[in-house]
Amino acid sequence: MSPRWEARADVIVVGTGVAGLTAALEARELGLRVLVITKAAAGSGNTRWAQGGVAVVMPGEHDDGDSVEAHVQDTLVAGAGLCEADAVDAILTGGAQAVARLRRLGAVFDPADNGKLARTREGGHSAFRVVHAGGDATGAEIERALLTATHDGRVPLLDNHIAVDTVRTASGAVVGLLVLDPNGVPGVVSAPAVLLATGGLGQLYQATSNPEVATADGLALALRAGAPAADVEFVQFHPTVLYTGPGARGRCPLVTEAVRGEGAVLVDALGERVMEGVHPLEDLAPRDVVSGAIARRMALEPGGVDDHVYLDATHLDAALFRRRFPTVLAACQSIGVDPSADPIPVSPAAHFACGGVAATVDGRTGVIGLYAVGEVARTGLHGANRLASNSLLEGLVVGSRAARAIAADLSACILADPKAGVRVSLPEAPVANRDVLQRVMSRYAGIGRDAEGLAVVGSVLDVSAVDTVLTTRENVEDAALTLVARALIAAAAARTESRGCHVRTDFPAVDPAWQHSLAVRLNPSGQP
Ligand code: SIN
Repeated sequence: MSPRWEARADVIVVGTGVAGLTAALEARELGLRVLVITKAAAGSGNTRWAQGGVAVVMPGEHDDGDSVEAHVQDTLVAGAGLCEADAVDAILTGGAQAVARLRRLGAVFDPADNGKLARTREGGHSAFRVVHAGGDATGAEIERALLTATHDGRVPLLDNHIAVDTVRTASGAVVGLLVLDPNGVPGVVSAPAVLLATGGLGQLYQATSNPEVATADGLALALRAGAPAADVEFVQFHPTVLYTGPGARGRCPLVTEAVRGEGAVLVDALGERVMEGVHPLEDLAPRDVVSGAIARRMALEPGGVDDHVYLDATHLDAALFRRRFPTVLAACQSIGVDPSADPIPVSPAAHFACGGVAATVDGRTGVIGLYAVGEVARTGLHGANRLASNSLLEGLVVGSRAARAIAADLSACILADPKAGVRVSLPEAPVANRDVLQRVMSRYAGIGRDAEGLAVVGSVLDVSAVDTVLTTRENVEDAALTLVARALIAAAAARTESRGCHVRTDFPAVDPAWQHSLAVRLNPSGQP
């Protein structure tokens, strides 16, 4: 079907999370015509579910010996040798200014007794530097503030519009998007700059902390546009989502790492500590270490493989728990657990894509006119394992920087003219059954992988994927999941070592020869 409607802008922002809205607001301030599109209701992505907070060192606000250098060092250690030091430095140095800007836009962070911002600590951090809002509802407050500013600033926003493909010139520059409107009618939005802020890929797995919209759309779109991706094999599993019963599916409520930051500890069914003797930081070790230790302990449970452990917060003050963790408390109460009396049942679940579209700290990708920010992008900040609460910060800093980069690229006339876009129609792509895909990815490409299991995923996708014209949101999403699953297993099979959150049971050691990122692109037949 050919496009039946048209719109124009200087920049199209795809996504309404922290990175996309920050970029949209800054681009608007710079005088650009911005159009934001999102495939669901505005604000239904990952940002609003973020609990812990924003990791940031704010000189003047906090003068207690912490430093950006220490934050950089913690990030590099968590990233297990694959962070890009310059990107880490640039993003973390920009943190204080980005948080100040967010507060000017109206976001309210929790104060400490001394009137400064309250701070907590999470896994892998050597200091209390995570600022938070609403106790454990930081993402919800950031999303509220950014959406209000977007609305007040009259930034045009099309909700329930899904991007199906990029529009490109004959030389490959991106100059717009092919989009389905809420009734499934295709249209073209033309712009010399398209900024992807589409979030992550948690829906590749059965159990995830991510909402149902996290279906890897932006990464698939970028790969099809010819942009390289990197580090896609590094999917971070959060150590503690609430265990709600056997075979939990879909979005599982997060139990923020900040609960451990306040002193809760992981125990098994016998009450034995999980993290004792595993890492010097014990329950506050980096996330990959804690998730791996839980997975191993679950496999050792009496009676064979168990599917959860417990987070014991019973010794924490009940009033403090109520004030600091209202979201976690409500989720526990919904399954009849009282954290002041009962250990909280928890298990790891897919949480964050450390890799993504290869992008600079200004959001520029390998394709002219295409930019990527937030979880969909791989800037080099996270390496092989993201440090807790660095992602909201990345969205704020890189979102702003990308808006400025687009304004500069427009002024320098290095972007292509949308009039040069080649005519497009709805594309065809392989689509696998989502349930089957999630089952094989969870079984063979989760916390532990090996060559044999990854090959099983490949053959299941080969057999079950059917070429389909992308006419609905559901098959656009399923095509994205299918393509990104293939990219992920190709990278995971190639990386014959264990590093950060990529654990190969058949190659359990870190291999120094692999201390580099792996780029993924599509070949001419559309395969990674
Ligand atoms: C958490 O609150 O534990 C999650 C924060 C994050 O993923 O950075």
